Amino acid sequence: MTRDELKAWVGRAALSYVQPDSVVGVGTGSTVNHFIDALAGMKDRIAGAVSSSVASTVRLQAHGIRVLEASQVESLPVYIDGADEIDPRGCMIKGGGAALTREKIVADLADRFVCIVDDSKQVDVLGRYPLPIEVIPMAAAQLQRRFARAFSGDARLRGGVVTDNGNCILDVHGLRIDDPLAMETEVNQWPGVVTVGIFARHRAAICLMGHDDGVRTLTY
Ligand code: A5P
Repeated sequence: MTRDELKAWVGRAALSYVQPDSVVGVGTGSTVNHFIDALAGMKDRIAGAVSSSVASTVRLQAHGIRVLEASQVESLPVYIDGADEIDPRGCMIKGGGAALTREKIVADLADRFVCIVDDSKQVDVLGRYPLPIEVIPMAAAQLQRRFARAFSGDARLRGGVVTDNGNCILDVHGLRIDDPLAMETEVNQWPGVVTVGIFARHRAAICLMGHDDGVRTLTY
């Protein structure tokens, strides 16, 4: 079983969390692309989708799925998205695709976050995957120094990337995130930080994890 096959498997499995006639929150990334392709098969049974990125919007619309603005809904029953890492409490690192800010906004609208990953994303402690931070460009250099001082983190500017919101991404290497909620809270307050890619406040309620022997459902 290849990684891509595992991603396709969990993408299809996530359909069972989509409620008929509802608007579904849709994340970003290669795993979510499989979910979107599967969702196309039930597009006449949903009211539409709120998307977390331009890329997902384009894919949803190509399938003829109606895309609503986040401002058009008061809440969503479910948000379905991938992750770069997920820990045993359902806390995640996200932002490998640079869509973390809109992902957190749509996740915040949702009653529950259903995470879809292959088993390579499962970790005991977050931080091996470089932590993405969306930052206002003028603050990038000072935030790089601050990560070094506060967490001995090596924050590197992601070359050639401008987010959907016109900002840049720092990827922070060398972290061990024992208390994801505390670090998310701390870094969120630093001037110039738009969004930190720790999803602890908006952790997963359910994770569908693809293993060679099938999809396991983890609840937190
Ligand atoms: C996008 O910004 C990310 O948060 C993705 O959800 C994450 O990188 C997982 O992507 P893949 O499904 O492509 O591994």
